[in-house]
Amino acid sequence: MKESSQTWVEADLVITGAGELLTCARTGATSGARSTLGKIDEGAVAVRDGRVAWVGKESDLQEEVRLARGGQEIDAEGRLVMPGLVECHAHLAYAADRAEEFQLRVTGATYQEVAAAGGGIMSTVHATRAASDEMLRALTRRRLDHFLRYGVTTVEAKSGYGLTVDHELRLLEVYRDVGTAHAVDVVPTLLAGHSVPVEYVGRADEYVKMVAKKLIPVVAKRGLARFCDAFCEQGAFSADQCRRLLEAGGEHGLVPKLHADQLSNMGGAELAAELQAVSVDHLDHVSDSGIAALAASDEKRRVPVAVLLPGATFFLGEGSQAPARRLLEAGARVALSTDLNPGSSPTQNLWLMATMGCSQLRMTAEEVVRAITIEAAAALAIDHEVGSLEVGKKADILILDSHRYVEIPYRYGMNPVWRVYKDGNLVVKRDLLTET
Ligand code: NIG
Ligand code: FE
Repeated sequence: MKESSQTWVEADLVITGAGELLTCARTGATSGARSTLGKIDEGAVAVRDGRVAWVGKESDLQEEVRLARGGQEIDAEGRLVMPGLVECHAHLAYAADRAEEFQLRVTGATYQEVAAAGGGIMSTVHATRAASDEMLRALTRRRLDHFLRYGVTTVEAKSGYGLTVDHELRLLEVYRDVGTAHAVDVVPTLLAGHSVPVEYVGRADEYVKMVAKKLIPVVAKRGLARFCDAFCEQGAFSADQCRRLLEAGGEHGLVPKLHADQLSNMGGAELAAELQAVSVDHLDHVSDSGIAALAASDEKRRVPVAVLLPGATFFLGEGSQAPARRLLEAGARVALSTDLNPGSSPTQNLWLMATMGCSQLRMTAEEVVRAITIEAAAALAIDHEVGSLEVGKKADILILDSHRYVEIPYRYGMNPVWRVYKDGNLVVKRDLLTET
């Protein structure tokens, strides 16, 4: 007999046996809804052509989903299933480490003193400019491999260690070339406003003008970056210079982001909100008015996501923590990131940031899991594509060697990944008996 209408979904991959399945889907606009994880006990997820085709209770699977010929069914055996992680703030392409600088800081020098003495960001700029294209590509590829093994399926990648037209373009080209060939999705950001390069010492305004006139138009024309970022800090760029950089980016279609209020308060959060940046990152020294600016929920204006980087605060060991609770209670969206970079946060462990979110920032397990999935995706304006397991979104799926979501921040410093699926394809297979 011919069926009148097809009421079931056809899938080429089905993951069953999830003890807990976290969709991390947004369930509403209220701040209360933001703290939920969309947890489905005994859940299952079905994938078709690299996209989520169905998600629900395993008990409904048989009725609603059919496995296509040649399709695969994977049993998670009670493990936790969740969306791939999103790393929303990473300085991915750089050469050389700064391990000696860390020891200088341990024995008394501050981050800004090291930078003023010619170390810091500028020392990485020298090493990066000197590195070959092949070396930069290899380092970038390797760091993406690491992220993927830690369950990160989307990575934002900032330039910022080139600081000339040619060197910044070269870093963005590395992201384009390596990103195209790698399983991880790479989202490129122009961060020419990272530090005033030696060639422009004492002439920061001229550097800003050069970036605005010569670099931004080329980056935009070649489609090499989605975002334009700047470092608003004493010793880096003033709020006014950041405004000029981000406005120039905006005129060419690059969406603003901002490193703000990290080591001191410069009114960065307020500036980011005024410019409708997609995110404002660090915020260790954000003011009350900055918090208020990030709290406003306005349908017509974009309000930046607050991206907190507790790893940088921890590793610098100098300052206060970002006021995560106050931001959340005010209604701000909060994401967490590693801030991978060679100076203030040489880690790629986003799970550890979730632990720090709990232990240092007093966020709950629900809040930190959202902060490394759906809110991190919002900080890149791609929360319609990734960051949650919802029908139509990319099938970026993790199976963890944990059973309950409360274990995520609890088992700190560990990699809980058992399997990673990117666009529905198995890309990482870890087994504790065969891996360290
Ligand atoms: O996000 N704050 C500025 N940029 C980086 C540090 C970069 C570096 O020290 O090389 C950060 O912490
Ligand atoms: Fe950064």
